[in-house]
Amino acid sequence: MTRVLGIETSCDETSAAVLEGSGNDVHQRSLVILSQDIHRVFGGVVPEIASRAHLTSIVPVVERALADAGSTLADIDVVAVTEGPGLVGALLVGVAYGKALAYATGIPVVGVHHMEGHLFATSLEHADAVPPFIALLISGGHTLLLDVEQWGSYRVLGTTRDDAAGEAFDKIAKLLGMPYPGGPHIERAAATGDPTRFRFSRPMVRTNARPGDGDFYDLSFSGLKTAVRLATQKVDIESERANIARGFQDALIDTLVEKTLRAARESGRARVVLGGGVACNRTLVSRMRERLAEVGATVYAPSARLATDNAAMIARAGLFHFESGERASSALSAAASLPIPGSRSA
Ligand code: KG4
Ligand code: ZN
Repeated sequence: MTRVLGIETSCDETSAAVLEGSGNDVHQRSLVILSQDIHRVFGGVVPEIASRAHLTSIVPVVERALADAGSTLADIDVVAVTEGPGLVGALLVGVAYGKALAYATGIPVVGVHHMEGHLFATSLEHADAVPPFIALLISGGHTLLLDVEQWGSYRVLGTTRDDAAGEAFDKIAKLLGMPYPGGPHIERAAATGDPTRFRFSRPMVRTNARPGDGDFYDLSFSGLKTAVRLATQKVDIESERANIARGFQDALIDTLVEKTLRAARESGRARVVLGGGVACNRTLVSRMRERLAEVGATVYAPSARLATDNAAMIARAGLFHFESGERASSALSAAASLPIPGSRSA
């Protein structure tokens, strides 16, 4: 049995967690997430403020996670820290802290890819959310459709050509005068919206409809964003807010569901695993479940706490790499962009 301390500081959450276990039998002992509320005032994450806030919080957050787990550093076998992608200044706080811990205590460190963390998150809550499966990772910065043969081996089926799914939610929310992050606000407004009032076309669905077509699995949200912006210019936003939110969310969800359905059908995988902040969207999850049932696939979604950024998922992915024999060198650093280890294009 291995005990892992996970650290996540890639964006605006300072998080630490302790997990223990081996293979797919892993238990979460603690998870502390400190969200930096200050960015709301600016309508988005301000990198310099994020870095400073991580610096203030990292020590108490790690100490709290250790205490909640009934652990001390002496019980920890490995430190797993997010090395990228993300905001470099924010990432550096976690990486430098993790390396300093390692240097002072002799505990090994592994660097973790943030999106690989999101890929592992759901397995902490659902024992069946393990490979082989199709994964749809939908966060604020990335959108990835993957065929996961086994942990550590990923075929990238599709990505976004422009905005990430969460980014599209955040930008449309801003347009509608809602606070950052916008996803939850859009979802709430959409629930009372009229689905027939605004019908936006579903991006990348009608064209590229056959396997082998260039964008069969790829996504794009910039056209939808423009269509929504044009619609807002013609109406009174105040009275149409919920209807626009509904029209936008329906179009975005239909696209994500259609691409995931294609991946499940073509691969024959019986499981679909969702991850990333947008997987908090209950409407998306229920539509995904309905449609994927048509091809006999079961959909696994994380709880909101594990869908958004957290260190438990980083510890979980780190455990896999540690058990595979990986150890980071003292040269471990932060990277703004980084390919998922073990990934190849379809
Ligand atoms: O994975 P995450 O916490 O951070 C990144 O790695 O980016 O994802 C944050 C994103 C934001 O864009 C936020 O608006 C979106 O997740 N989000 C949602 C919902 N809750 C969070 N999007 C749609 N519906 C939601 N309920
Ligand atoms: Zn994330």
